[in-house]
Amino acid sequence: MKPFQLIIHGGAGQLAEPYLMKKLPVLKESLDAGWKTYLEGGTGEDVVASAIQVMEDCEYFNAGYGGYPNANKIVLLDAAMMNGDREYVAFMNIRRLKYPIRVVRDFLKNEKSLSSVWTHELMESFDFKNAELKKWYGWVERHQDLLSPYVEELLFKNQGEFSVDTGFRTVGACASDESGALFAGISTGGPNHKVNGRIGDAAMIGLGLYADNDLCAMTTTGYGEALLACFPTGFIIGRVRDEVRKDPDCFLKDSALMKRIIDEEFQEFGQKKIKRGGGIICIPKGGEPTYAFNTKAIPIGIRIGTKDKIIKNEAYIDRRDGEKSWL
Ligand code: GLY
Repeated sequence: MKPFQLIIHGGAGQLAEPYLMKKLPVLKESLDAGWKTYLEGGTGEDVVASAIQVMEDCEYFNAGYGGYPNANKIVLLDAAMMNGDREYVAFMNIRRLKYPIRVVRDFLKNEKSLSSVWTHELMESFDFKNAELKKWYGWVERHQDLLSPYVEELLFKNQGEFSVDTGFRTVGACASDESGALFAGISTGGPNHKVNGRIGDAAMIGLGLYADNDLCAMTTTGYGEALLACFPTGFIIGRVRDEVRKDPDCFLKDSALMKRIIDEEFQEFGQKKIKRGGGIICIPKGGEPTYAFNTKAIPIGIRIGTKDKIIKNEAYIDRRDGEKSWL
């Protein structure tokens, strides 16, 4: 039996220090929630959903409650999940729900592999769910109920639009369970002031997230248009497949291999004349959680262990200048 592994991130970007540090304690809460689900016998999908839901619930993260509004001041959310058996659910433009990852998780339980733009009919169907389910999904009556005071403060300061300096995006989690099976999840409000109906990379399978038990689990964060145009995840998945074809145990034998691949691809991504970058977290088949980013900073949490013992437990902000702030 292998140890359970969980890695989370709170969005790679350029956020100013005081705002950045607000995320740090929430990383621990997110890891704790994921771990509790694992200890209670939850699946990898359940663990990923629990960890992400904590960040969706916190106004300091651009996901769920606290997601950045679009140009019409409506919070439109994207969320997705994929497991290593190549089953996925992805929704774009979810409305009036604080916890899109729970919706995705519940759809994944019942309906295998669905990618969809959220419809008004779906949104309205949640108005008729019972009180318990509404609470579970974080249902709110009005669009503006998803606009957090923190986001409004930032909006006000920036006269309606976040500057690059405050932009901090998507949250995500990857896990590998005791059998080595892999899972990835993602949730985002996308960029502030986005064009109504704009779709980013987050809920696109193979771009915002990917999981394949023979390869790796990964999920991205950052400027969706750049991640779409430069396709770093595609190049990473291709390189992982090449390595696994040469040696199926490559990531077990060389614990730094995955890190080298993502660092190289994110360095190249950063050189492609795209001003805004991003980050990635991943777990390779048989290997350990790792991450890369080409923005100013990324909040990271990692927990590895068994039901009896925690082997690794870390939460910190990592910065491009090499300085880390630990919890
Ligand atoms: N990476 C998330 C987005 O741009 O929507």
